[in-house]
Amino acid sequence: MKALTVLPLQAGSARLDEVEEPPESDGPVLVETLAVGICGTDIEIISGAYGWAPPGRDRLTLGHESLGRVLEVPEGSSLVVGDLVVGIVRRPDPVPCGNCAVGEWDFCRNGQYTERGIKAHDGYLSERYRITEDFVVKVDPALGILGVLLEPASVVAKAWEQVHRIGSRAHFDPKTAVVTGAGPIGLLAALIGVQMGLDVTVIDQVTEGVKPELVAALGATYRTGSILAPGGEPPDVVIECTGVDKLVFDAMEHVGPGGVVCLTGVSSGGRSIDVDAGGLNRSMVLENEAVVGSVNANRRHYEAGAEALAKADRGWLDRVVSRRVPIDSWEDALKRGPDDVKVIVEVGS
Ligand code: BGC
Repeated sequence: MKALTVLPLQAGSARLDEVEEPPESDGPVLVETLAVGICGTDIEIISGAYGWAPPGRDRLTLGHESLGRVLEVPEGSSLVVGDLVVGIVRRPDPVPCGNCAVGEWDFCRNGQYTERGIKAHDGYLSERYRITEDFVVKVDPALGILGVLLEPASVVAKAWEQVHRIGSRAHFDPKTAVVTGAGPIGLLAALIGVQMGLDVTVIDQVTEGVKPELVAALGATYRTGSILAPGGEPPDVVIECTGVDKLVFDAMEHVGPGGVVCLTGVSSGGRSIDVDAGGLNRSMVLENEAVVGSVNANRRHYEAGAEALAKADRGWLDRVVSRRVPIDSWEDALKRGPDDVKVIVEVGS
């Protein structure tokens, strides 16, 4: 079968390969891949900056944002042939650590977790894959191909959960949120914020095109510039989705009293900026502000993401999936156009 594979940490090594059928050891559920979303992590892996091959192997099959159709299930399964499903990315570490032991593998403490398509376990960008039922999440069949947005939606569902858990250390009734970045993660974070009834503002650099339109269509506000609008009130929540150092500190500086900043953007690092660390500390202490990093997602977050997508306007989600590329032209999926939001590779039909 076809699979997009890469030699981790070697730039220019990605290629469409002919590989063996998925191993039975991956699980009794056989899934036909329909589509796989491409994100910054895939681009990083393809550029040779990230990624781990499975033990004893050189190449890793890419793809962690998947949508597939069930082809085979074991007897007694709650899945049925034809179900539209998404495979969870992370697998708990084998020790397991305290968090992995209770299904909170997104908080793995010893780093021995694996991630499909990223870390030591083949991904979903192959014609078929195998999986165990406990790592499969069903999506609303009415979503069709748009179910491919579930993995990024799970990541932001986790971010919102962190915000609410931390906020509820005291009375927490947020009214306003700023989301930085109008890429897929930012837009899905804004979608969930609006669904929660918050007044959401999304900040990005572009002044026209599909991103401002998608934000407006949600009933949220779109702006360029800083977290704090001139003369505006500081937001109760900031979901930072760019990893841009200046914005990260802007968020910490300008979140409202008792507010929560959730950082979801993975920066490349290696750059320095000037920060008034003492001033920042002073305002964070005197206003009880919290900053939290958030990565990955466990099953609870996939289920929350699936609910958010099922409630969302289909036309809006369809515009978020801005380009669909057939697997044979996978290289086109890596080139970002100005109106690209989420680009997906279509594998089957
Ligand atoms: C994925 C996460 C993963 C992270 C780090 C992200 O792109 O969405 O599931 O944990 O990369 O590998």
